[in-house]
Amino acid sequence: MKIEDRKGIVITYGTFDLLHYGHLELLRRASLLGDTLIVALSTDEFNSLKGKESKIPYNKRKELLESIRFVDQVIPESNWDQKVSDIQSFGVDLFVMGDDWEGEFDFLKNHCQVVYLPRTIDISTTKLKKSFNS
Ligand code: CTP
Repeated sequence: MKIEDRKGIVITYGTFDLLHYGHLELLRRASLLGDTLIVALSTDEFNSLKGKESKIPYNKRKELLESIRFVDQVIPESNWDQKVSDIQSFGVDLFVMGDDWEGEFDFLKNHCQVVYLPRTIDISTTKLKKSFNS
């Protein structure tokens, strides 16, 4: 993409397991902040490293995200340290996360804008997993 055609590339990171409407709201609001939304999706191996086990494998989580009309591209998130190089290689203007991560990624402000969006209340993957078990 030519620099002059680009109005704003937005990136967000996460596991997005058992895709739910809290995810959808986050992605919708993130997409409205630019014209291209990239989702860096945690791989199954990276989830294990974080002590998370997703119910849905990476390829299926990726397909689900790709079928959302306001998601433009899904790339793998394989480690904690790739954010700066992703921002540089994709020419990212804005880094977005839910506000459960407030402040955690402020160090990226040297490279692009950083915004934390309010989480949608009363829904999470953890909550869904618990409700399946009850
Ligand atoms: N998110 C959100 N509102 C929710 C749940 C998640 O805005 N109710 C956002 C998170 O803040 C994050 C992104 O969606 O920016 C992906 O979050 P993820 O951790 O994959 O989803 P959770 O439902 O929070 O999963 P878990 O319960 O395993 O932490």
